[in-house]
Amino acid sequence: MKEAGNTRQLYVDGKPFLILGGELGNSSASSEAWMEQLWPRLVALNMNTVLAPVYWELLEAEEGQFDFSLVDMLVRGARRHGLKLVFLWFGVWKNSMSCYAPLWVKTNTERFPRMKDSQGKSLEILSCFSEDVLAADIRAFRALLSHIRSIDSTEHTVIMIQVENEIGMIPCARDMSETANRLYNGPVPDLLLEALGREPSSASWEACFGADDHTAELFMAWHYARFVDRLASAGKEEYPLPMYVNAALNRDGLAPGEYPSAGPLPHLFPVWKAGAPAIDFLSPDIYFPDYKRRVLAYRREGNPVFVPENQLGPFNGDHAFFTVGACDAIGYSPFSVESQENPGESFLARAYAVLRGLSPIILAHQGAGKTAGILLENLAERDECTLGSWKLFFRQDRDWLPPSEPVPVGQERAGCLVIALEDDTFLLAGKGILVTFACSDSAGGIAGIAEIDEMFPDGGLLTRGRRLNGDQNHQGRHVHLTSDGFSVQRVRLYRYS
Ligand code: DGJ
Repeated sequence: MKEAGNTRQLYVDGKPFLILGGELGNSSASSEAWMEQLWPRLVALNMNTVLAPVYWELLEAEEGQFDFSLVDMLVRGARRHGLKLVFLWFGVWKNSMSCYAPLWVKTNTERFPRMKDSQGKSLEILSCFSEDVLAADIRAFRALLSHIRSIDSTEHTVIMIQVENEIGMIPCARDMSETANRLYNGPVPDLLLEALGREPSSASWEACFGADDHTAELFMAWHYARFVDRLASAGKEEYPLPMYVNAALNRDGLAPGEYPSAGPLPHLFPVWKAGAPAIDFLSPDIYFPDYKRRVLAYRREGNPVFVPENQLGPFNGDHAFFTVGACDAIGYSPFSVESQENPGESFLARAYAVLRGLSPIILAHQGAGKTAGILLENLAERDECTLGSWKLFFRQDRDWLPPSEPVPVGQERAGCLVIALEDDTFLLAGKGILVTFACSDSAGGIAGIAEIDEMFPDGGLLTRGRRLNGDQNHQGRHVHLTSDGFSVQRVRLYRYS
């Protein structure tokens, strides 16, 4: 990963790379025959990267004996289909639980202790306080990274690793084991106090932060982060791929323990950043409808945005355009992408085709304040942005539809991205949006449209299509990205008084 202005970009083969991804359903990568049916679907979606799990239970079914056949199968398959891979390490934790731990781990609770609830009952969650749990996870993770290096350090098919999956504590806010209780009643580590802007202190967690579940969550987040940091550091010693962690976002109004708490959530950013410096960035899995708010919560403190999971739906293309434009994102990926109906005809495939063609241009403008992303999550929503000396106003092209009239599937949301190519010239790409213009206050004057050209992007080059004027721009009033698919237009503006 490398700095680019106010963000960081993912580099693959010496060049910045934009992930147009899709994550497989949890069990798909466990069978070669199953995957054989899926590859053509993934190709039809115009994806460039597949997010695929690697299962600890199958990688190390017998302690110390590693079976890399599924990893090799995925690498072979991805190469054959011109795709890159992000591996998801389903190790100690998967959605809070430890269901992917091998049976020799699950059955030996003496050696591999579980977290305990308030009654002292063991949960199906391996302890983040156990050196033996960490050592077992590290050994398998090291073996995986070392194997990837041995087969892929030239071709670079595997470009990134997700460490565990949706770490979180549920159904209680913290582990109540003896070890956890002892640490909870001991001092808060100086490193964390410093990260939170507090003075060093020997007081207990509750004395520092209060006696409630938020303190319990902070405590768990710190210990999860420290565990993950040692795991990721060990993996990077074998093969230094970029590594990230993903969060199951919390529903508003619930208390820690009612939601999977202590994961890399927005309110725990400082804890995870200080506790796990070996992790390159924190990522949101977004299954809530307020996509825009959820993703923007991860565009902070230099954290590059990557959405490894978004609910599969007709809106994925709009979300992808917004994420890339508004967040200078590394990439985007809907979950269970192989379930997309009519993959080749889908909005997602059409969005990815356009984004693929635009990628080099997008990447060249990232981190410089020259891009914007717009997502209109309902017909009435409007938005605006300022780029250089121009203001741009956005509304859905269907905002006149009477509420009684059903909106066609895929046209409920509208998304686009904007790139300022020159001071008076913008590239607008997306669907279902009308864009109007004004001069920003300091510049003065009235904004006029000098020309609009339809553009076809391919490998970062733009071929000019039709000159769009007359009915296509409402006689010079706006740019219209129509709602039937994703398109690209270049507009040049001028000023008059
Ligand atoms: C989020 C998880 O990270 C995925 O592995 C999967 O379980 C989905 N939820 C299911 O909706």
